Amino acid sequence: MSSFLGEQTKQRPQTTVPNGKGKPTKRQYVRFAFYKLDPEWRRLSPEEQASQKQELVETIETFNRRMLLRPYTLMGTRSDVELLLWQIAESIEPFQELAAALVTTRMGSYLTLVVSYLSQTKRSIYEIRDNPNEDVERLIISPSEAKYLFVYPFVKTRSWYQMSLEQRQAMMDEHIRVGRKYPAVKLNTTYSFGLDDQEFVVAFETDEPSDFLDLVQELRETEASVYTLRDTPLYSGLRAGLAESLDALGGPKIAKPVSQDVQIQPSWTEVGSIADFGDGARKVIYHNGQQVALFNVGGRLYALNNRCSHARGPLSEGEVQVSPETCSVTCPWHYAKYDLATGEVVDGIASAPVATYSVDVRDGVIFVGNA
Ligand code: FES
Repeated sequence: MSSFLGEQTKQRPQTTVPNGKGKPTKRQYVRFAFYKLDPEWRRLSPEEQASQKQELVETIETFNRRMLLRPYTLMGTRSDVELLLWQIAESIEPFQELAAALVTTRMGSYLTLVVSYLSQTKRSIYEIRDNPNEDVERLIISPSEAKYLFVYPFVKTRSWYQMSLEQRQAMMDEHIRVGRKYPAVKLNTTYSFGLDDQEFVVAFETDEPSDFLDLVQELRETEASVYTLRDTPLYSGLRAGLAESLDALGGPKIAKPVSQDVQIQPSWTEVGSIADFGDGARKVIYHNGQQVALFNVGGRLYALNNRCSHARGPLSEGEVQVSPETCSVTCPWHYAKYDLATGEVVDGIASAPVATYSVDVRDGVIFVGNA
């Protein structure tokens, strides 16, 4: 987990900043829009409910190319809101246009926007000593497949900002150390200074709500916590598809069963020239939306899911070992060891294998495909 503190600074006032490869990386705008459905809607006929849900889905899907939108259901976790649409875009306009489009739909007229947080990505002013690239990485939000999302607005006391950067960095170091103890919790930090009422909006993704609870409790004991003015309300959402998140609100189901939802995916992904991927090389590629770690070990190519089955550690950064019996990679986070050929766990804390992929070289070009 990364740190969630940071603030506006004179040193880095850019709208674009260089990334690790010297290319500019644009900052993104982020909106968390929480809705509640008027109970009157649940008295409509099932046919009308299904038709309205379908209309709403189609309206939202027209924004697919203009923003990344992740729906979450809060049915059963909060009383004041029921649906979250997490939106990420390159400018604010798509948020405004989506909001305007929603209210023109029939179901939209039953949805009350209860809370809306607007924010932007930004580099932290604090050094993240064990991952210097992290502040650049956090400019681009890339939601994970995690099942749960925890969102809250965050405001520091004014006395925090009166302290020197060195004093704050020391407290942040402690804060980051605590966060690193919970690698299964991924944080998305966004900034609201001047854009909205709070200073930050933080969104934690995880498959293990208990890890998040323990992390927050432990963070309360850090020195930096003394300088927190507000970090509530806290919204706990469950990830769902768009149709599923509307189905959770009531009415007949419109989400297709998973088996009908499967799309035809390309069976091979071109990776690049084998001439540029010699013995000892490794890289991360994307195949059918999955992060895949590709290794060249002694001229043999291996591909397996990059996310450790224990807590999603990056296997591409793990140590590779070769023995007469097996060729393995060790997760850098808690040292689970996987067989590179089969993805099976051969040692350590992980209890489930990771997926492996076929690798083919045709005319000097590497392709990765489903195993
Ligand atoms: S993330 Fe814990 S062993 Fe890999």
